[in-house]
Amino acid sequence: MFLCYVVFFLLTSGSSSVEGNPSPVLGDVVVDRYFIPKICVRESKSGDHIRYHYNATFADGKTFDSSHQRGDAKVALLGEGRLLEGIDRGLRGMCVNERRSITVPPHLGYGSTGAGKVVPPDSTLVFDIHLLDVWNQADLVVTKTVTTPKDCKRSVMRTDFVRYHFNGTLLDGTVFDSSYTRKQTHNTLVGEGWLVKGMDEGLLGMCVGEIRNIVIPPFKAYGEKGSGSEIPPQATLVFDVLLVDLHNPKDNITVEELVVPDTCTRRTVAGDYIRYHYNGTFLNGVTFDTSYQRNSTYNTYIGMGYVIPGVDQALLGLCTGQKRRVTIPPRLAYGENGAGDVIPPSAVLVFDIHVIDFHNPNDTVDIRTTYRPESCNETTKENDLVRYHYNCTLVDGTLLFSSHDDDNLQSVVLGTDKVIDGLDLALRGMCVEEKRLVTVPPHLGHGENGATGVPGSAVLVFDIELVSFEKGVPPGYLFVWLQENPPNLFEALDINSNKEVPQEEV
Ligand SMILES: *[C@@H]1O[C@H](CO)[C@@H](O)[C@H](O)[C@H]1NC(C)=O
Ligand SMILES: *[C@@H]1O[C@H](CO)[C@@H](O)[C@H](O)[C@H]1NC(C)=O
Ligand SMILES: *[C@@H]1O[C@H](CO)[C@@H](O)[C@H](O)[C@H]1NC(C)=O
Ligand SMILES: *[C@@H]1O[C@H](CO)[C@@H](O)[C@H](O)[C@H]1NC(C)=O
Ligand SMILES: *[C@@H]1O[C@H](CO)[C@@H](O)[C@H](O)[C@H]1NC(C)=O
Ligand SMILES: *[C@@H]1O[C@H](CO)[C@@H](O)[C@H](O)[C@H]1NC(C)=O
Ligand SMILES: *[C@@H]1O[C@H](CO)[C@@H](O)[C@H](O)[C@H]1NC(C)=O
Ligand SMILES: *[C@@H]1O[C@H](CO)[C@@H](O)[C@H](O)[C@H]1NC(C)=O
Repeated sequence: MFLCYVVFFLLTSGSSSVEGNPSPVLGDVVVDRYFIPKICVRESKSGDHIRYHYNATFADGKTFDSSHQRGDAKVALLGEGRLLEGIDRGLRGMCVNERRSITVPPHLGYGSTGAGKVVPPDSTLVFDIHLLDVWNQADLVVTKTVTTPKDCKRSVMRTDFVRYHFNGTLLDGTVFDSSYTRKQTHNTLVGEGWLVKGMDEGLLGMCVGEIRNIVIPPFKAYGEKGSGSEIPPQATLVFDVLLVDLHNPKDNITVEELVVPDTCTRRTVAGDYIRYHYNGTFLNGVTFDTSYQRNSTYNTYIGMGYVIPGVDQALLGLCTGQKRRVTIPPRLAYGENGAGDVIPPSAVLVFDIHVIDFHNPNDTVDIRTTYRPESCNETTKENDLVRYHYNCTLVDGTLLFSSHDDDNLQSVVLGTDKVIDGLDLALRGMCVEEKRLVTVPPHLGHGENGATGVPGSAVLVFDIELVSFEKGVPPGYLFVWLQENPPNLFEALDINSNKEVPQEEV
């Protein structure tokens, strides 16, 4: 009993200072802690399971046993009388990665009988020990957050699907696996038995961007069997996990309105054709695609499956100028296969969408009269020579042309195909001094290809004022007029413009 106290005292006092190696001044069991690691989270105690390498020698240095010769580190339970008494005592208070030498006198070793042909009677034994692992049946999965992201709207729950990077090490620091070497995340359901029990527990509550340290005792990992050649039996596992992605297989898209314009007379519906800019990012904020780098909007029909289902849904109910953020689970994006090198399998995608304009192929010219003189007896019609001023803008207000620049009064004979169809239509039925605000869909404007300064498929807004007109210009005069009034450069570009759909009469 007295010896026990001596050993206990020396080990605890020694371990509280990891600086020096305490000198062994011992009666019976002599312990030399010749290497103590700087960090020692816990020390072995009675009731703990331990895993260690050892070389056993006689006092003269001759080896009679070694875990290395046996192939595997030894797994043992302390304080239950299953070990040689001297060893059981000598292994207490030990840190993982500590190395110590334990000298066991015969009466705490194999005594006066010895052990078969291997250990002669009354042998003093010297054990060189390297501790690899300590755990206890009462251990829990221990998690420690290393970094927390700034905002965390959602954290891992059971039945969620996650993608994470990890480094997996044994308690002694040996790396047994890492997602980084494979250059791809580990993708799995949580709480559904796809993972070892301890990992299913340890991932709960994690946020995307969080780095967490998870320590899993062997009975919640691979237990007695271990796994493959990398994970030995009864190994505690340490995971450093970086959560990259998170969703639930039942998720729908989530929509967040970023900017909603004050006035919105019309919202997108299925069948509309939309032009929008977007930034596409992953949940961790990394951009995988953006329309801005191409200097042109992304253009598509809505609700016809031309884009991934999640975006198709997100494009509904939008106003011109609106900004919307949509978060799309993989089943409504690129699914389990991902897309090329750009989208990894099972990735959640976030799109910030900015609507530039939209129209419907059924749209006609939208004419709003903003000023009409009281007396308006005569109005313009086909074959009339009309003179007018106008400003042309995109729907976001970007000015494309103004006839006021250089006082450039416009003139055209209606129905001669000299201006875009939408403008020709909008100039009919006008009286002198009348003003109109006209919205022209691209199929009555510059079509899919656009024109210099006019983006393809752009909706145009014309602010028109009729200055004067001459009725029914005869064909002969028209020829002369055309020679004297060549169509201006801006309008000349329309003549061969592509039409998205055949023109419909107003
Ligand atoms: C035991 O001997 C081997 C070489 O035979 C050596 O690598 C090891 O460090 C020694 N000590 C322990 C505790 O394994
Ligand atoms: C995993 O190890 C690599 C290389 O040491 C390191 O760059 C990375 O940050 C580690 N990951 C985590 C989640 O700790
Ligand atoms: C997702 O959307 C579908 C169809 O719109 C609906 O039936 C389902 O209940 C939604 N699921 C959730 C979790 O909101
Ligand atoms: C255009 O109008 C017709 C008739 O109202 C309708 O059947 C068709 O779906 C519309 N097309 C689009 C693209 O909305
Ligand atoms: C986009 O426009 C910018 C500025 O006008 C220019 O520097 C860049 O080269 C353009 N990029 C492409 C892909 O056309
Ligand atoms: C996309 O990102 C750029 C650069 O960060 C930003 O200027 C632009 O407003 C973003 N667009 C949307 C639709 O959020
Ligand atoms: C319009 O018609 C009315 C009567 O029909 C006539 O009095 C008036 O002078 C006409 N105005 C113009 C500008 O022709
Ligand atoms: C066009 O813009 C100018 C100012 O740039 C403005 O004076 C004029 O009233 C606008 N409308 C028309 C039809 O020209």
